[in-house]
Amino acid sequence: MKNYKWLFWLVMVTPGFAQAALAKSQYEKQDPPRELTEEQAKVAANNYQKYCALCHGDNREGHKNDHAPSLRSKSLFESGVPHSILRPMSYGRHGTAMGGYLDEVGGPMTLDETWDLTYWLFWQSGAQRVKLSENPVHGDVPKGAKIYQQYCTTCHGENGEGITAPALFNPSFLAHNKDEFIRYAIEQGRDGTPMLPFAETLSEEDIDNVTAFIRSKASAAKITKVALQAIPTPDQYVINPEGENAKFELDQGKYVSSKDLHAAMQANKRMVLIDTRVTSVWQRAHLAGSVPFPYYSDIESRVGDMPKDVLIVGYCSCPRAAAEYVMEKFNDAGYNNTAVLYEGIFGWMNLGYPVVRAEGLEVIDEELEGH
Ligand code: HEC
Ligand code: HEC
Repeated sequence: MKNYKWLFWLVMVTPGFAQAALAKSQYEKQDPPRELTEEQAKVAANNYQKYCALCHGDNREGHKNDHAPSLRSKSLFESGVPHSILRPMSYGRHGTAMGGYLDEVGGPMTLDETWDLTYWLFWQSGAQRVKLSENPVHGDVPKGAKIYQQYCTTCHGENGEGITAPALFNPSFLAHNKDEFIRYAIEQGRDGTPMLPFAETLSEEDIDNVTAFIRSKASAAKITKVALQAIPTPDQYVINPEGENAKFELDQGKYVSSKDLHAAMQANKRMVLIDTRVTSVWQRAHLAGSVPFPYYSDIESRVGDMPKDVLIVGYCSCPRAAAEYVMEKFNDAGYNNTAVLYEGIFGWMNLGYPVVRAEGLEVIDEELEGH
């Protein structure tokens, strides 16, 4: 009986494997990027834990918070190094929980650190790079739209907004990635994740068609940056210092709704609002009066800057992971008058409440060379 079962699975699984392996072998291999020195690798590993593990997981497995993708899938590192890793890491994917980490846009990492972390992730993955064409993928867009509706919407959403998977019609996603990178992901899937290799279900032509359909969503996709604003100083932390103290009925003892928070802001209540996301995204848009207090900052040494006699409300976009993490640190330090914005900043905006947006959008037109 045992042997019979084994045979059954072998037969079930082999054709799929054979096909995927065949498709992969069509790709020419590419030399690996530079290796890191011991010191660079140590810094990169630390940076990963400090900045990325919150959402991508302690072991790069992904999907810890807000459906952040796996950062150890071989197929990603075969096709994505350096640009498809470096660009989202540096500039973020606007409109998702993935912010930019490069200092130039207000993030905490230097250019060298972003390159080293890209290569560190590559070496950790054990992948071998393949050579992908830079040329556009041609296909029949209306046919691709049908394939998309049939096979992709359950996870990626009807409008490519991402449900349990990345937002495929997102302008930054489309600006950062070449057609062949997208095609490769569809064909090979992302090993170790729910993204299956569609080489097993779709013809090459239909993979081209759906790739062309996704690309057709990129109208004016450009990588942009904004003029950096001054970060508030401690004497500016309290909103409405002369007002009455804000006080909320907190759901589960910690959550404030967007509706209640907005009403308190309208009523000029006294409070502190902290933005716990990577600071580059505070630079692009934030709640009026909020102070950047990113989850990776040295929280223990910074809490002392905060007044103790006022409610401190934290928010993020993931939609609560970073804010809860930071508010727990506050609680540990003896600050118990705290709250977390339940819907996060995207939920807040979806409900039509206002944010302060940066001015001076500038297109970054650089070609990132090997480094
Ligand atoms: C607050 C949560 C969060 C943090 C922290 C975070 N990410 Fe992400 N990341 C995401 C999400 C969500 C996505 C997918 C967004 C989308 O496209 O819908 C993503 C996407 C990515 C991608 C694109 C992967 C792919 O499959 O194309 C890379 C690369 C990446 N992140 C690297 C990093 C690195 C490196 C760090 C740390 C420096 C980091 N991220 C920190 C949430 C996060
Ligand atoms: C069962 C859910 C599911 C279905 C169905 C699905 N995907 Fe995915 N897809 C995912 C997940 C989850 C990821 C992120 C994987 C990871 O963690 O790296 C992903 C990743 C991708 C990526 C890479 C995105 C990036 O940021 O690098 C592309 C492109 C993609 N999918 C296209 C498609 C297309 C096209 C279809 C339909 C033919 C499809 N997917 C169907 C779940 C799904």
